[in-house]
Amino acid sequence: MANQIKINKTKNSRLATVDFKHIPFGRVFSDHMFEADYLDGKWTNFNIRPVEPLAIHPANLALHYGQSIFEGMKAFADKDGNPLLFRPEMHAHRMNASAARMSMPSIPEDLFLDALEALVSLERDWIPNEPGSSLYVRPIMFATDEYIGVAASQTYKFLILTLPVGPYYSQPVKLIVEDHFVRAVAGGTGEAKTAGNYAASLLPAKLAREKGYDQVMWMDAHEFKYIQEVGTMNLFFVFKDKIVTPATDGAILKGITRDSFIHILRDWGYQVEERPISIDEVASGYRKGELIEIFGSGTAAVASQVCLLTYGDLDMTFDESNWEMSKKLKSTLEHIRHGEEEDRFGWVVPIAHPVMA
Ligand code: COI
Repeated sequence: MANQIKINKTKNSRLATVDFKHIPFGRVFSDHMFEADYLDGKWTNFNIRPVEPLAIHPANLALHYGQSIFEGMKAFADKDGNPLLFRPEMHAHRMNASAARMSMPSIPEDLFLDALEALVSLERDWIPNEPGSSLYVRPIMFATDEYIGVAASQTYKFLILTLPVGPYYSQPVKLIVEDHFVRAVAGGTGEAKTAGNYAASLLPAKLAREKGYDQVMWMDAHEFKYIQEVGTMNLFFVFKDKIVTPATDGAILKGITRDSFIHILRDWGYQVEERPISIDEVASGYRKGELIEIFGSGTAAVASQVCLLTYGDLDMTFDESNWEMSKKLKSTLEHIRHGEEEDRFGWVVPIAHPVMA
């Protein structure tokens, strides 16, 4: 490990208090977090310490103008309990692509990977064994300057939290085609994993929930015609003769699970089309009986089936007998990530040795 990371272990582990069979997504944190600070143009102060609140100045630039980016990734354990990371380099690249868009400093890839390895190694006992569970890893970087002026911060904090999690969506999802609000437009920040994209999705999601849906399906910002994503996940449409996923056009997050599914599907010999897909094509495929299933992909969502998609007056319903492809993909991905199936793509990174405190 090239980077020296100071480790301050907790004297009061919360591990024994956690009911790993019933973990709500996003609310249970492991004992420790990684921390680094960007000061005087370089990353410094690499340390792992107990998770605790931070002191934030009221003029913190991230709070006022939104310089905040994050990643979502997962760690698993193999049959001997050794931690495995899934495609950490790709997450490092996407974090730095988000950083570039938001005018934030990049994080050296070796620092990102060393920090992950040290933290996940220390928190290995927090990796759940239950099927469908994992240790969710949340790297986040945000501005720390105290300044009431619109400017890129000169200082930043980079943290990594880990959380044992179960499924993000415990049920198949109900979606409604959004016909008023927009999530993103090419040239905007839709491709970046930045906090404001998620904040802007909250009102449309609340309105959708009031109508009985779980989330909205975002359309392109020009014509409300082409499908983008769900905000919490990318989308796949399985037709009788092809599988289509919206092309990432600058307004859609470049999902790492999306990319993994495309690789697996092509490896299985399926034709996967990455291209603009209109909601009318989906509705017409449904009416003709050619659209078999729709599912979302994401680190948190894995493969989440859509049981209802409403477009105007049309309710497109899908039941479990349709979900062959998403189930097969999900179980293949789970097997690869747990080291139970040959990792032909070179995606799994084992963490071999415990880091000494
Ligand atoms: C993820 O899939 O990891 C995300 O960041 C999305 C969020 C809904 C949890």
